[in-house]
Amino acid sequence: MSDTASPAVIRRADYAQPAFLIDSVALEFDLVPERTIVKNTMRLRRNPDGAPGARLELMGEALELVSVALNGVPHAEHRAHEHGLTVENLPDAFELTIVSACQPAENTTLSGLYVSSGNFFTQCEAEGFRRITYFLDRPDVMAIYTVTLRADKAAYPVLLSNGNLVEEGELPDGRHFAKWEDPFKKPSYLFALVAGKLVAIEERIRSGSGKEKLLQVWVEPHDLDKTRHAMDSLINSIRWDEARFGLELDLDRFMIVAVSDFNMGAMENKGLNIFNTKYVLANPETATDTDFANVEAVVGHEYFHNWTGNRITCRDWFQLSLKEGLTVFRDQEFSADMQGGDTDEAARAVKRIEDVRALRQFQFAEDAGPMAHPVRPESYVEINNFYTMTVYEKGAEVVRMYQTLFGRDGFRRGMDLYFKRHDGQAVTCDDFRLALADANGRDLTQFERWYSQAGTPRVSVRTAYDSAQRRYAVTLTQHYGDCAPAARETQTGPLLIPFALGLIGRDGRDVPLRLEGETQAAGTTRVLELTEAEQTFTFVDVAEAPLPSLLRNFSAPVVVEYDYTNDELAFLLAHDSDPFNRWEAGQRLATRELLALTARAAASEPLSLDDSVVAAFARVLTDESLSPAFRELALILPSEAYLAEQMAESNPAAVHAARQFMRKRLATALRAEWLAVYERHTASGPYEPTPKATGHRALKNLALAYLAELDDPVDAIRLANAQYDAANNMTDRAAALAALLAAATTAGAAAAQPALDDFYRRFENEPLVIDKWFAMQAMQRGSLDRRIIDVVGKLMAHPAFTLRNPNRARSLIFSFCTHNPAQFHAEDGSGYAFWAEQVIALDALNPQVAARLARSLELWRRYTPALRERMREALERVASQVKSRDVREVVEKALA
Ligand code: PHE
Ligand code: ZN
Repeated sequence: MSDTASPAVIRRADYAQPAFLIDSVALEFDLVPERTIVKNTMRLRRNPDGAPGARLELMGEALELVSVALNGVPHAEHRAHEHGLTVENLPDAFELTIVSACQPAENTTLSGLYVSSGNFFTQCEAEGFRRITYFLDRPDVMAIYTVTLRADKAAYPVLLSNGNLVEEGELPDGRHFAKWEDPFKKPSYLFALVAGKLVAIEERIRSGSGKEKLLQVWVEPHDLDKTRHAMDSLINSIRWDEARFGLELDLDRFMIVAVSDFNMGAMENKGLNIFNTKYVLANPETATDTDFANVEAVVGHEYFHNWTGNRITCRDWFQLSLKEGLTVFRDQEFSADMQGGDTDEAARAVKRIEDVRALRQFQFAEDAGPMAHPVRPESYVEINNFYTMTVYEKGAEVVRMYQTLFGRDGFRRGMDLYFKRHDGQAVTCDDFRLALADANGRDLTQFERWYSQAGTPRVSVRTAYDSAQRRYAVTLTQHYGDCAPAARETQTGPLLIPFALGLIGRDGRDVPLRLEGETQAAGTTRVLELTEAEQTFTFVDVAEAPLPSLLRNFSAPVVVEYDYTNDELAFLLAHDSDPFNRWEAGQRLATRELLALTARAAASEPLSLDDSVVAAFARVLTDESLSPAFRELALILPSEAYLAEQMAESNPAAVHAARQFMRKRLATALRAEWLAVYERHTASGPYEPTPKATGHRALKNLALAYLAELDDPVDAIRLANAQYDAANNMTDRAAALAALLAAATTAGAAAAQPALDDFYRRFENEPLVIDKWFAMQAMQRGSLDRRIIDVVGKLMAHPAFTLRNPNRARSLIFSFCTHNPAQFHAEDGSGYAFWAEQVIALDALNPQVAARLARSLELWRRYTPALRERMREALERVASQVKSRDVREVVEKALA
């Protein structure tokens, strides 16, 4: 056990208003990598609603205090300590000037002010501002900021901060300065500065009301050829928020800056968004279709925060989902609209399927483990550990349910009321819920449970058809099944679950729906409102026993339990008018088969797959009426992680054997079809990242991946080599390389080596592409004589590898530990030993990244006994050695 006490727990119930408020802040920076001096002049006043007492407790971390002055006069009554600065004997309103120093070049945490590629950047969310200056670093303290930056002009020609540039000029000794003013008050977590050698592409556009806006995307000079897509995405985002929500850009100038060392995806600092290069840089040679889509989504996400997050922010960090759930929902809708407009349901469904797949694979897993928490958590040790799939993705599902209940117009009315009531404020999830309720004349008291209860709800469905009465009864029961203790303790009662349902006749057509008590049928999809533990909904005038299409478009983040037969699933896969459920039917079919195969593999019994299952997938593969994008999604088998999660005792080796068996079976049985699809969807001509072209490439590359599974993958190797050489875009080149790596498991490593070497040489100067090179090798399948841990071990020593760059660490270490379960969970525990070593090494450099990696063992109790024991040993080793609050919270909760 570790020798120090467990770190303190922060509780939502303990929220208290700040004792002081800060009206304005003037910051002056003398930027020097080794020692930057910050002069912070604040106007403060006592908060009439805050706790009394003359003492001001400012937060500060890793700072060196230089001086304190009250109303311009040195003030001796202060004390700097480990967590900040206490200032005593203060009047009701005053000006406080604090000078302090920090060390950006030494800052490997990437929180606060740091240096990356010789340039200065900041990251303040959640609690990084206190690493820059002493402050009331909490989101309910909102102030007006003026920022003056001073630095050497040759080394740092560009000086940026939030808002508008109001002054710039020369200083002695080759230095220069820039002064920025942000006209909007903001919490400290939205502060940002950037200084260095950067260049920008620019556009000037007019916003809805006709005002001119300057848009810039800032990057290092060699990346200027990868900025167009981000700029287009920004313009599309601005237009979309005007059209869909009536929200206009409120600043004259909006900047995006790319940085290669970044802990997360991107950050919505007011007017100065800072992005991980991975989510801003893209051109056809270096970025895949997925990268293009991610850039669009993240640019949209950060831009949408300008209203949902910045204009209205969070009262405290327990309310994080207020901005994140809502903004993820907005970016999902934006991406769906960009795919299919607001009418092409099949195209929109592609985005929906991808989002639900991620939710089920990662958020459901989180909800089933020791880190389970409600969308609005009750407590935390380190807030950085709560930027989670639950807060983001389940939070977005909760927001989506308002739209499902009230329709797009009702949702818009709620948003309008939310802005009318709360613009300029720091508020809570309850405030958002009340705005939606009041705008739609509904009591949403029960709906609060979606914010307070953890765990994945399950809805069991029973149906009964009465042919004499022509009635069809659907009984829904909600429960949490056998869920994790961390989730169990939050559960108090039934949820309001919007359950969208359709009924399908024998001809494959939707039945018009008429509920008991209604005078006539209306529509073919109904959103049933399940509010009790159990409820029965009766449809009348039903001519024949229908097949239910349940939870259409995934109308609530729940698991549906219903015993379809394989034939029924095949029928739904062929006929459901709801594209999401059509996909879902195929996934259910595959999941059922794969779990049965897994059980046999675990018992070393022979494996076999029914021809009818192969036939169902063959129909999708050859159904030209379906879009290629949809077919690709329908033909990807559920992931190994998702399958393992469905087992009472996860057995990654058996899951892998089962899934590989089914892939090989589908490859072999449908070899001619895969080859035909490959040929048919191979396009020539210039690359375009449009939804249509993306869908063709996706299906073609899936065909190639299946062909690589054949015992004798000659076709795959030939096609992949040709595709690799001819590729005019990264999607095709990377897919070809991946296929060669897969084929190499049967054909021998030499099959992939030339392409692998070429790929490295070709993209040596493109770090984001080299990340792919590491990741593909870390995720490759092993074989009896080749363990991937050995490949990873060698790559750790590669000159291009470094733990200090989070993208690089993720590309090799996380790819192996979280995306290669069969190899990571090797029976000898070698994966876990590697994991422990890397968590410990990262902890000393960057606790946030270390804590993310630490989470890859949190479900240890759900594995087979032999693995469980080895995982516990590894967790204990980490628990005894790590220092950060971040990692300790994760491993201590896992072991508790
Ligand atoms: N607020 C950022 C987003 O979701 C995420 C983030 C959190 C970035 C913390 C950096 C640090 O858009
Ligand atoms: Zn966000």
